[in-house]
Amino acid sequence: MTGPELAEAGRLLAAARRPVVFTGAGMSAESGVPTFRDAQTGLWQRYDPQELATPAAFRADPALVWGWYETRRRGVRRALPNPGHRAVAAIAARLPETVVITQNVDDLHERGGVPAPVRLHGSLFAPRCSACARPAPLPSDLPPSADPPEPHDGAEPHGGAESHAPEAHDGPLDPPACADCGAPVRPGVVWFGEALPSAALAAAVEAASGCDLLLTVGTSALVHPAAEIPLVAARLGAPVVQVNPVPTPLDAICAVNLRGPAGEVLPALVRAAWPDDAVG
Ligand code: APR
Repeated sequence: MTGPELAEAGRLLAAARRPVVFTGAGMSAESGVPTFRDAQTGLWQRYDPQELATPAAFRADPALVWGWYETRRRGVRRALPNPGHRAVAAIAARLPETVVITQNVDDLHERGGVPAPVRLHGSLFAPRCSACARPAPLPSDLPPSADPPEPHDGAEPHGGAESHAPEAHDGPLDPPACADCGAPVRPGVVWFGEALPSAALAAAVEAASGCDLLLTVGTSALVHPAAEIPLVAARLGAPVVQVNPVPTPLDAICAVNLRGPAGEVLPALVRAAWPDDAVG
């Protein structure tokens, strides 16, 4: 990242009224949330995430897939929003028509101050029945005396309640049964080979079509159809600013490429856009 590029991106952001912020796994990397492409730890080392995140894997071994997502969910609950999440919230506070679209299944945008991001790939905190789709309660992993955390409440204090939870089982785990039909409950995420939630996809396409700046952060832009969202904006003439430490297939369509980690680049971008504000 160089000064002139940051200044240009700051100028574009300051001039925007309807920006879209489009985020991927790199957004949460500095919070310690592993991506699918990171090495797995513990007993999960011998599994390929891309093979666990499929409907076929869940049908073949529900306990394996449910246990893996429970491990991921607990890891996310221990993670905290990083300065990049807070900078995105600062942009949304400064520009109320901002739309945040995320491919992430964590809740760090919400806890970082963006109450309702458009979720293209679902959420770790919204399990549902694998047969009848009835929403299911989250498994309790808190001591009985503690208040259970509300999913997406946006107000969890630092060091969230789960940090006091007892050490939970890590490994294959039978999913709960649906209270209605008894079928296994599944994670509320979009698996490889599944359609994206149509309302979220429509909202994302509409926002990208009408935006006057698209800021893409921490995505490899390899997984479709989500990866098309920046292309929609670019095709309709909106400048695209990318934040990523490495080049991606989006480089060529970007007005500015800011090479660096989101947790450093985004606060610097907010300061460049609004040097007189205290935010960021
Ligand atoms: N700041 C910004 N970007 C980062 C950082 C960081 N600190 N660290 C890594 N990155 C970048 C990487 O260079 C990479 O380009 O984040 C990107 C992460 O890419 P992926 O792991 O492919 O994540 P994503 O693009 O979100 O993947 C899309 O694929 O893994 C599935 O369903 C999952 O939603 C996910 C989808």
